[in-house]
Amino acid sequence: MMRTVDLIQKKRDGEELSTQEIQWLIEGYVDGTVPDYQMSAFAMAVYFKGMSMRETRDLTMAMVATGEVIDLSAIAGIKTDKHSTGGVGDKVTLILAPLVASFGVPVAKMSGRGLGHTGGTLDKLESIKGYQIERSQEDFIKQVQEIGVSLIGQSDNLVKADKMLYALRDVTATVDIIPLIASSVMSKKIAAGADSILLDVTVGDGAFMKTIEDAEKLSETMVALGKEVGRKTIAVITDMSQPLGQAIGNRLEVLEAIQIMKGQGREDVTHFICELAQLMLELAGVEKTLEEIHEHLVNGKALEKFEALVAAQGGDLQDLYRPSTAKVVTEIKAEESGYIEALPALEFGLFAMRLGAGRAVKTDALDYETGIVFEKKVGEAVESGETIAKVYSQEILDKKLLTEFQKNVKIGRVQLLPKEIIKVIS
Ligand code: URA
Repeated sequence: MMRTVDLIQKKRDGEELSTQEIQWLIEGYVDGTVPDYQMSAFAMAVYFKGMSMRETRDLTMAMVATGEVIDLSAIAGIKTDKHSTGGVGDKVTLILAPLVASFGVPVAKMSGRGLGHTGGTLDKLESIKGYQIERSQEDFIKQVQEIGVSLIGQSDNLVKADKMLYALRDVTATVDIIPLIASSVMSKKIAAGADSILLDVTVGDGAFMKTIEDAEKLSETMVALGKEVGRKTIAVITDMSQPLGQAIGNRLEVLEAIQIMKGQGREDVTHFICELAQLMLELAGVEKTLEEIHEHLVNGKALEKFEALVAAQGGDLQDLYRPSTAKVVTEIKAEESGYIEALPALEFGLFAMRLGAGRAVKTDALDYETGIVFEKKVGEAVESGETIAKVYSQEILDKKLLTEFQKNVKIGRVQLLPKEIIKVIS
């Protein structure tokens, strides 16, 4: 008879678990026969001893089997999906999904919520009055058939093991380990049913992966998992050493996404999103130049699709364009002249969280209106006294917070040239 304690011990001693052992453990965890305390000991053993590729694949498939697998075959064409391993100011999905859909490639995506310093697409969408993230499977499919795009929350019936395991990992310091992240992400993507998957693997201060080597390893693992089950999968390693684009905070990020979809966004983030769109389209067999893709931002095609998406999910199109109602806007000025050398994503993500834009625990209520908008980013010159950022808050910022903000803006003599896409792994 199999016993959980023996499997924990096996992993603790650095041995490989068999396919059956992994299946037994995951099934037991989901049906309640393996308690949380044993699963956390197991997760910690994996944290220290790792898993082979075979074990990671078995874990992923055992997790997929703990819920439904969505059948998207009723939707014509190659269905696409994307996933980010998390970041600060990451509003990519809001733009990328309608942009790709505006070329006739269906995007059927389930998104997640933010936690801690990272943001989540669902929270950003819910900052739009009326937007509903819950949809039945039939409605989800019908919407993609009708308008080519749907962005919803993950159904409770999908990958039950991940919901339980992720909550456990979150409170047992076992989130940031490659086999557990890879199986968590890929089990959800496989269950969500799309034919092709673009993985945005963030690296840097504000991401789970702190080094390029680790990001490469995670990317290779996830790409291999996707391909093994017949999904076209590529990973893009992207910079999360500073926040993405200008805004952090739910409403503020929706507004930045709209700016980008009007062709009026920052050049770097706009270019980055066009590059991701090109890759996603390519996965679906559609070849487009960056110019052709950019044209859909300038001519309103992507924004039109975004409006159709918001309307289809109950969102109020007038509220969509409403500015933030945060009561206080504080301009942060440069204290010296030079180049911005660093804007650490983690620190600013945590700062925005304290303003109410993020959650410390899953049950925290969000303030959709608060956050930060950067006017200067890494590599740009500033004069002393020039505005670097605007902070949107509900109360006047106290001196301690202001000092902390200033401390995190690094101004120096070196002009760095940040690159959004570091590497593509396919
Ligand atoms: N995102 C996920 O979905 N799972 C992880 O484990 C980490 C990031």
